[in-house]
Amino acid sequence: MRILGIETSCDETAAAVVVDGTQVVSSVVASQVDLHARYGGVVPEVASRAHVEMLMPVVAQSLVEAGVSGSDIDAVAATVGPGLVGSLLVGVSAAKALSLVWNVPFVAVNHLEAHLYAAFLEDPTMELPLVVVLVSGGHTMLISMEGHGEYRLLGQTLDDAAGEAFDKVARFLGLGYPGGPAIDRLAARGDAAAVRFPRAMRGEPDLSFAGLKTAVVNHVRKTPDANVADVAASFQEAVVDQLVDKLFAVAEDVGAPTVAIGGGVAANSRLRERVAQTAARGGRRVFLPPRELCTDNGAMIAAVGAHVVAAGGAPSGELLTGDPGLPVSVVHV
Ligand code: KG4
Ligand code: ZN
Repeated sequence: MRILGIETSCDETAAAVVVDGTQVVSSVVASQVDLHARYGGVVPEVASRAHVEMLMPVVAQSLVEAGVSGSDIDAVAATVGPGLVGSLLVGVSAAKALSLVWNVPFVAVNHLEAHLYAAFLEDPTMELPLVVVLVSGGHTMLISMEGHGEYRLLGQTLDDAAGEAFDKVARFLGLGYPGGPAIDRLAARGDAAAVRFPRAMRGEPDLSFAGLKTAVVNHVRKTPDANVADVAASFQEAVVDQLVDKLFAVAEDVGAPTVAIGGGVAANSRLRERVAQTAARGGRRVFLPPRELCTDNGAMIAAVGAHVVAAGGAPSGELLTGDPGLPVSVVHV
């Protein structure tokens, strides 16, 4: 079964072909980072226009790289939310049009569910329940995945998302946009023990990053000659501490044999290192999706599409009106 997955929820225009829900035979991502960098963040109107320009070339390239044509595709899956409405509409309209032309089902995919499925693309044999910390630019959640389509939300940020904290701190430190990769690179040269920033919400399943961001700002204002690499490394360590503590506490509570990370921040080097070390010490299996599957991509969308089709080909409406257990406002398109 060959699924074309389309992702346009934010600032990446992406398409991929996935075979049998696990083999990524092509994955093309056109990033709009350069377009948005001068504004210091994603500008929705600019994003949707760029999706209109880029989507068809990206889809065409994903088919060429997969060595298939439209008539070989069995279903078209696209992100329907959450995300920027104007951007989502571009991907959904294109996916619906392609599904009509090719006479195959259109599958509506929840973007957050897709981040969870990135783990299955690499290791379809993962044991459940699986506890995942989903850390993206817009969301930070601890989710127990108990079956395909069965999720329990065990904790979430009460204020900023982890990626948002990276982006805001990076902007404050003058490191540009997107902030996560910039801090990741700079922190490698800094001392993570240089500044002891606060670790919020100890002993709670929920998370918080707004106070940490303020602590960084206050520290730099009070210590203007602070070494920026040290501040970046110390900030990153505080974020990672919080994520790792909560991920493993929750995994212990629900008795999950396996933990995983997903979303853009899961590309962070220090987070990956600490999650791997902690899992090894506690005898848990861990899954760290490859970096390119952590940030937004079409393959994770196709992976969800494949599971939906395999589970009886649920028509597109089902994910929109059903309750997949993810407390996100799915946009109706
Ligand atoms: O999942 P994603 O690509 O898009 C959303 O669904 O939001 O996540 C984007 C977020 C941004 O905030 C970006 O700064 C962060 O992921 N990010 C990182 C790294 N790479 C991307 N954060 C920390 N370290 C990284 N290496
Ligand atoms: Zn995402």
